[in-house]
Amino acid sequence: MKKFTKIMALALAVCLCMGLLAGCTGGKDTVEPTAPASNGGDDAAALKTVETGKLHMSTNAAFPPYEMLDDSGSPIGIDVEVAAAIAKKLGLELVVDDMGFDAALLAVQNGQSDIAMAGITVSEDRLAKMDFTDSYATGVQVVIVKEDSDVTMDNLGEKMIGTQLGTTGYIYASDTPENGGYGEDHVIGYETGAVAVQALINGQVDAVIIDNLPAQEYVKANAAAGLTILEGAWVEENYAIGLRKGNTELLNAVNGALNELKADGTFQNIVDKYITAD
Ligand code: ARG
Repeated sequence: MKKFTKIMALALAVCLCMGLLAGCTGGKDTVEPTAPASNGGDDAAALKTVETGKLHMSTNAAFPPYEMLDDSGSPIGIDVEVAAAIAKKLGLELVVDDMGFDAALLAVQNGQSDIAMAGITVSEDRLAKMDFTDSYATGVQVVIVKEDSDVTMDNLGEKMIGTQLGTTGYIYASDTPENGGYGEDHVIGYETGAVAVQALINGQVDAVIIDNLPAQEYVKANAAAGLTILEGAWVEENYAIGLRKGNTELLNAVNGALNELKADGTFQNIVDKYITAD
């Protein structure tokens, strides 16, 4: 299966990236923390960031529950709070720069932000352009359809698919059928996932491919439209924090802080705050 190959390739890429090849047994692509302990207090002052004393995070705050805007327009979400906790550990103040998803990835590559955090999937292509921390979440891409639709996982290739521009959903779905995609003619990229879902509701596309947690939020938020998520995963991925290539000092510091937050339960507390079992 093409998709399976893709997942394996990604798993391999992640393993290589983390220098974990020996420990990676394939299949499930979970990356265990390997980072050195955080360099915390003293060294932190020496950390070079885009703006002294600040940690700039580029994101696209249209991806609940990872990042979204609250009623007053302030960015909130799992990524925002985890980044704030990382910044605090490093003695820095978090600044969230909200922009388009593609722009958020470019900002960190161009040295305009220190970290990119936006539910970003680690992929081979992205590994060629930026560095990533250890993974902090598994992302499962799913397919949203209308409740009464005849769309299935197997006939997606005959349908019109909506995605968010620049995301792996867009990149994979618009790839050629030989590579497991459906071809550009079958895929429309929208500025945000919410706009893609609106296009589904309006009948402009037959399905939306997007990460599972935002998918659930969108289905809930549009209850009157009668949307549902197809059974099964379209593709499974890993999320990590992106940094400019070769920025080893900051990468190690951020990775160390991230792993401390995982170890002391702070990370899980933040996740639990946003993901309630209901
Ligand atoms: N995980 C997907 C990707 O990396 C989608 C991420 C979209 N994130 C966002 N904040 N809009 O391509």
